[in-house]
Order: sequence, then C-alpha cells, then structure tokens
Amino acid sequence: MSKKRILVTSALPYVNNIPHLGTMVCIISADIYTRYLRLKKENVISVLGTDEHGTTTETIAMELGMTPKQAVDHFFKIHKEIYAWFNCSYDCLGRTSSKESKEITQDIFMKLYKNNYIEEKEVEQMYDEKADKFLSDRFIEGICPHCKYEEARGDQCDRCGKLLEPIELINPKSKLTGSKPVVKKTKHLFIKLDELQPLIERFVEERKSKWSDNALTTTKAWLREGLKERAITRDLSWGIPVPLKGYENKVFYVWFDAPIGYIAITKASREDWKKWWHNPEETKLVQFMGKDNIPFHTVLFPASLIGTGDKYTLLDTISVNEYLNYEDTKFSKSRGIGVFGDNAKETGIPADTWRYYITINRPETSDTKFTWKDLQEKINSDLVGNLGNLVNRTLTFIKRYSDGRVLRITKPLDYSKEVEEILRAYEDIELKKALKQIMSLSKKGNQYFQDQEPWRAIKEDKEKAANALAVLANMIKDLAILIHPVMPRVAEQITLQLNYKKKLSLELLKERVENHEITEPSPLFDKLEDKKLLGLQEKYSGKQEKESKALEKIDLRIAKITSVEKHPEADKLYIEKIDFGGETRTIVSGLVGHYEPEELIGKHVLIVYNLKPAKLRGVESHGMLLAVQQGKKVGILHSPDSKPGDKVIIQGIQAKTANEITIDEFFSTKIIAKKTALKADGCELKAPGKIFVDKGLEGQVK
Ligand code: MF3
Ligand code: ZN
Repeated sequence: MSKKRILVTSALPYVNNIPHLGTMVCIISADIYTRYLRLKKENVISVLGTDEHGTTTETIAMELGMTPKQAVDHFFKIHKEIYAWFNCSYDCLGRTSSKESKEITQDIFMKLYKNNYIEEKEVEQMYDEKADKFLSDRFIEGICPHCKYEEARGDQCDRCGKLLEPIELINPKSKLTGSKPVVKKTKHLFIKLDELQPLIERFVEERKSKWSDNALTTTKAWLREGLKERAITRDLSWGIPVPLKGYENKVFYVWFDAPIGYIAITKASREDWKKWWHNPEETKLVQFMGKDNIPFHTVLFPASLIGTGDKYTLLDTISVNEYLNYEDTKFSKSRGIGVFGDNAKETGIPADTWRYYITINRPETSDTKFTWKDLQEKINSDLVGNLGNLVNRTLTFIKRYSDGRVLRITKPLDYSKEVEEILRAYEDIELKKALKQIMSLSKKGNQYFQDQEPWRAIKEDKEKAANALAVLANMIKDLAILIHPVMPRVAEQITLQLNYKKKLSLELLKERVENHEITEPSPLFDKLEDKKLLGLQEKYSGKQEKESKALEKIDLRIAKITSVEKHPEADKLYIEKIDFGGETRTIVSGLVGHYEPEELIGKHVLIVYNLKPAKLRGVESHGMLLAVQQGKKVGILHSPDSKPGDKVIIQGIQAKTANEITIDEFFSTKIIAKKTALKADGCELKAPGKIFVDKGLEGQVK
C-alpha cells in the first residue's frame, strides 16, 4: 500500500561543532533519497536542522566565552552554509531552540502528564552550594576510582573508559566553581516507558518487516530487557523549560525535545505541517540516522507521541548508517584531524565529488574509512576514467564528426534491466548499490563505444557511427537522470553540454533524444594529481605538530603590576609598569572599563614575556597580559602565590624559547581557561602558585 505523501528526515546534528564528512553521510543520504523521490514525482518533503540543547552546548559556549544562545547562533550559521555547499536540497531547515519547538515539546509533555505517563521521582544528586545549582554528571570532575585519572567526568572516565556515577569520584569538584559538591535530594520527571511498552511493541510489530537489521536488533534488545522509566529532565539552564511548578531550574533532557524538533521545524516552515505530521493514513515517514540514534527513534520518540493519545505520523522506514572514520583515526577538530565541512570546500574538490565518495563508500553494514588515497582513486578512475570519459568522448565525437547533432537510433542497445535494478536499489534506499550500478552502466557505455569503433565507422560506415553516437547520447541523458540524486551539479553539467533542457524526471528515461543539436563539450572532472594529494594529506592529518611547535615557543612569566596610567591617546587603554623581580617593562592593555587602576596595582599577572613588541597608539608594549573575556566581562589571569619573575610552564611541552613570537603565533595556540584548569591544546599551564581567572570567568585566553 503506498501513501500519498512521503516525509523524509535526517538526524539533526548537534550544533556544538563543525560537521565533518562523517556527519554528512546521513544528511547526504537523506538528500539523495529525497531527490530520487522528486524525480519520481512523489509528493515529498525533507526536514533537516540542528539539535541545539544539552550539556555539550553549555560547555562549548563556556569555552568560547559566549552565551549558549550566541554559540548556537554562531554554529547554526556554519551548519547551514555547509549543508548548502554540499548541495543539500532540504524543504524545511530549522533549529530545536525555536519557539515552535518549545511549544510542541511542552504540549506533548503536558498530554503525557495528563495521561499519567509521567512520574515524579526523588533522586540523590550532586549539588554545588556556591553556584546554588544541581550538577549534571558531566559538570562534575574528579579522580577516577579505577585508574586514578585526575580528570574523570561524573558520567565516564576518558582514560579507562569506565562508566561512572558522580558519587564514585574521588575528590569530586564542580566544574562550575571548582568547589566540592554535596549530595542533595531533588526531583526529576520520568516517562513511564514500562507502561508504554505494549503500545511500542505493537508499533514495532506493524513495521518491522521494513526495518534494517541493525535497527531491529537494537530495538528488540531494548524491548526484551523490558523498557524502564527514563528521566526526561536535567539540571541545566539552557534548554526547553519544564512547564510544572518546582521545575523552574530544570529543562527537558535533550533527547526528549530533539526528535520533536522534526515536527517543529516543519511547522516553522510550512502552514500545512499538520497534513504531514498528524496524518498517519496518508503520510509515510522515512527517517535517516546514525546507528547510535536508533532507540531514540524507535522507542523514545514514538513513545512520546503515542502516549499523547493524539494522532501522529509515526516512523515507517528507517535507514541507518554506521560511521565513516578518517584514515586510521577519528575526526578531531581540536587536533585538526580529518576533513570538516569547511575544509572540504577549501580543498577545491567539488561538492558533488564528495557526495560521490561518501555514497560509494557509504558505511551501510559496517564502519568504513575515508582515505585520501582512496579518494584519489575514485576520482581518477571512476569519475575521470569512467563517467567523465564516456560523456566527454561521446559528445566530442558528435561535435566533431556529426556536425554537433545527435541523429537517429536505428539499432538500439538494451539496458532496461540495468535501469530497473538501479531504480529498485534507490527504492530500497540501497544508495551505495544504486550508485555502483550506475557506474557499471557507464562502463557498459564505454565498452559499447570501444566495440562500435566510431572513429573507424565514421569513415567506413556512416550509418553505424550515427547510430552508435545516438545510442550513447541517449545513455548519457539517462545517466544524467539516474545520477542526479547523488551528483546534482554533474547531472546539470551533462544536460547543459547535451543541450537537454527538460526538467529531469524518471519519465524521461523512456524518451529518446533524436535529431538534436548539442552544445560545447568540456571535461566533467579534474584528475587529482599526486602532488596535490600529498599536500592535502599533510594538511589534514593534524596541525597538532604545528600547534605544539608554537606552544614550545611561548615564554610565560609572572610579573607584578607596579603602576597604572590611562593612555593619553586612547580611551580603552592603560599603560602599566610591570616588574619581573628586577627587570621592569611597560605594557599596554585594553582594561579600561573593566578595572580601576587600584584594582590592578600589586596583582601578580601572567605575561607573554617574549612577545614581539608592538606600538599601541604610539606607546610601545613589551609583552601582553593574559585575560579572559566572557560576554561583556573581562577577567585577568593572576597568581598571587607566585613570585614576580616565576615561569609558567605548559605541562608536557618542551620549552624552546629565547626567540620572539608574533601575536598570530601566540593566538594559534588557543589557551582555554576553565574553573578547574588552564589548558593549551590539552596541556595544563602551571605556575609555582595556583593560577586564578579573576571574576571566575571561563573561556579562551586573549
Ligand atoms: N544530535 C543527535 C546526534 O548528532 C541526533 C539527534 S536526532 C534528533 O547524534 F532527531 F533527535 F534530533
Ligand atoms: Zn579511569
């Protein structure tokens, strides 16, 4: 039974970082399927957006010295640009921090509450008395009871990988204030998945024939163990407020509101959103996601919707991808490893080529890995050598020997079986298979070209040559249609060169192009040369080394501020005299408005000692004072118990100083201040006495 409407969603990536190639797998898959359905003239819309709540957003915002709102706005813009650059053609794009999201999440929650599917429970939780806040697990740090790692988080130890309860940590500290948390009772809301289990089982039973193995296995495992009540509230300030008394300081758990985001994003973009989301009879819902997202889409999200008693469109078909890793490691933005959305663009390799690579290596049943060498091979042999070659030599021959005209087919070549198989693969969302078959059809075209020998036929048998070139021109038109979902720009270029102006659709596979004039042929793809490959490999395999090189050059020392005057030529600047225990210097810093001179005098501050001197409004500054800006506040770094002239070391970095460093080199190292530590590229900065950030600020040191 086929439905009137098809609603396609792609998992909403967390907005707290820049999407990498792995992130794009799911988004591009959903886009390919949607484009295929459009070619088939189905009534389809696709939904994409960003998942903006959760602890990580708060943490990242803190590190960047922004409010969560500023951070998500910043990253949303980047995500949007990257999706567009990769030629993603979503119908609705939005964010889980929208007002629609809040409205629908609260509505769904209230209905669950009224239907008795929500329970309040008292739990013991860590509390930061100084900040007057309950702490979610990730906001607690301490020593791991298993391996004694000093910076284990409340939920997990990053060194030994063991899952932890915050109560187990030795010497626990709040990441908010650095103080020791106490255990206190608090209340949380739980969704009674146990009571919803029979309804979920029925939902799964009804559609399991259409689910992939991994989706079914994970879901069944949850059901077999018996669903348990699950907390849907968290102690955070960034998130969707819980509309109940006593929950003013809590918000919904990110996985409660995230999938509801699909509905909210549709609502924010379309008046007819109910026709899609409140219409199970007419709408088929197809959802794309990574494997770790499965139970949230097959259990938690449907349970939230079913429990309302309202009529919602529920998941029909699920398409799960595994992971695409980078070379032999994981993507890591902070270490500069891997290809991120913004890098893909700067390589000069076109978006469609990335789409090709991602699809032909789509991690469907196991993880796959991206390698530069493999990319080169796919470009040079598949794209340039196979598809590009077929299109270019056919069109060039037509241009040169047939007066630029496609004549008539007198003896067709039958490849309807191949086309049928490609369409079936698309239909079954076997995207890798579809693409492989398209490439083998192209290969068949090249073979046919060889067999027909048009270069000889042109002279000896004009009719044979004309037929062969017409057959090939038609195959190229068909290939353009078939490859359009994967490589929309390439399809466009093919049809341009072919001078084929119809809007592509599957119906056109049956139509012939005959007695038709083409335009100018030109190569579709560029080879990826060895030299360029080497450059790319080097560039994206970790700038880590470069960074630690800069770190090795930094000479940080403690100095005492002995006098402070206002700069006569600049409103925002102070001129300070500082003392390194004998040596005195003058520096200039932009602290006016943040500090009174008296507050600064006597402070033991951190100074970049070997910074290249620079003139600031006519006064030469010999060094720079370190400070953190968070929102509008600025706080200096200082160490009252260290003595003037003391060195600040970066643990794990072999200092090779003496030379001056430039301001750009210094900023390339990115020093981050948190309540618990000051770190540069993961290495802690230490002075003889403890280092403080004034006003308790956190963020990047400037
Ligand atoms: N943000 C999640 C992730 O990147 C996916 C959320 S999908 C949603 O793993 F639908 F729940 F938003
Ligand atoms: Zn450990």
